[in-house]
Amino acid sequence: MSARTALITGGTSGIGKATAKVLHRRGYQVAVTGQRPESVARARADLPEDVLVLRADARSLADTDRVVSEIREQFGTLTTLFLNAGVNRPSTLDAADEAAFDDAFTVNTKGQYFTLVKTLPLLPDGASIIVTVGIGATRSLTGNSITAGSRGAWLAMIPTLALELAPRRIRINAVSPGFTDTPMVRTSPDKTPDEVATMVATIAANNPFGRLGRPEDVAETVAFLASDGAAYITGQQIVVAGGAGLAV
Ligand SMILES: NC(=O)c1ccc[n+]([C@@H]2O[C@H](COP(=O)([O-])OP(=O)(O)OC[C@H]3O[C@@H](n4cnc5c(N)ncnc54)[C@H](OP(=O)(O)O)[C@@H]3O)[C@@H](O)[C@H]2O)c1
Repeated sequence: MSARTALITGGTSGIGKATAKVLHRRGYQVAVTGQRPESVARARADLPEDVLVLRADARSLADTDRVVSEIREQFGTLTTLFLNAGVNRPSTLDAADEAAFDDAFTVNTKGQYFTLVKTLPLLPDGASIIVTVGIGATRSLTGNSITAGSRGAWLAMIPTLALELAPRRIRINAVSPGFTDTPMVRTSPDKTPDEVATMVATIAANNPFGRLGRPEDVAETVAFLASDGAAYITGQQIVVAGGAGLAV
């Protein structure tokens, strides 16, 4: 295959940013997207200078078109696509809000789906697509039904997509983190810093390995799925959760 290149959506923070670092260290040319100006600026400062940091809103297909033309111009082809941009929109049924529902499905499902559609012409035979799902997609977690639906949709789509892409040996797999220590878990508008610290300590205490996931735990799994070592793996999900969720 040609030179290794990667596009990471939601690569300005957390899991995506850690993956950008890991792939860059392994010799990939890397591009990342993010939406908020402050996290885009932080990513430009934190990531190696030759990582392409693009501001693009996953809800906007015009932004996605712009990202695709930039990648075509700068990289030519894309050997790895990591569909990772995502939002968490907690809501119980009695507080359900249409805007939260639309936002979760537009970023997590539609935005990622059309990024795949639009980047497809850039993917050479043998390319690897990885999608972030999350163990919450298939388990009960209070207030998580909307986010679970928007992410779990990928588990429903992946088998069909895997067989559509198989004639070109393009692989598509999901990576499913458990609670991972990123700004998404640490930022909670309705909790004080002390309450967040208590919540994080409780999650760690309840995990069989006694800690939250680190963004690097997920990044290393993504790097494996992107590599030739995973050349015969498609349509699968790898859970990266330290054993969380296994108990009956
Ligand atoms: N952390 C966990 O425990 C956990 C567990 C299961 C699944 N996940 C999933 O893992 C993925 C990465 O999350 P994380 O934990 O690393 O959280 P994070 O640090 O908050 O990162 C989320 C990333 O998604 C980007 N993003 C959000 N909305 C976007 C939009 N409209 N357009 C473009 N980019 C957008 C963010 O960019 P900006 O900051 O620039 O907006 C950021 O780069 C998400 O899909 C999340 O649902 C996380």
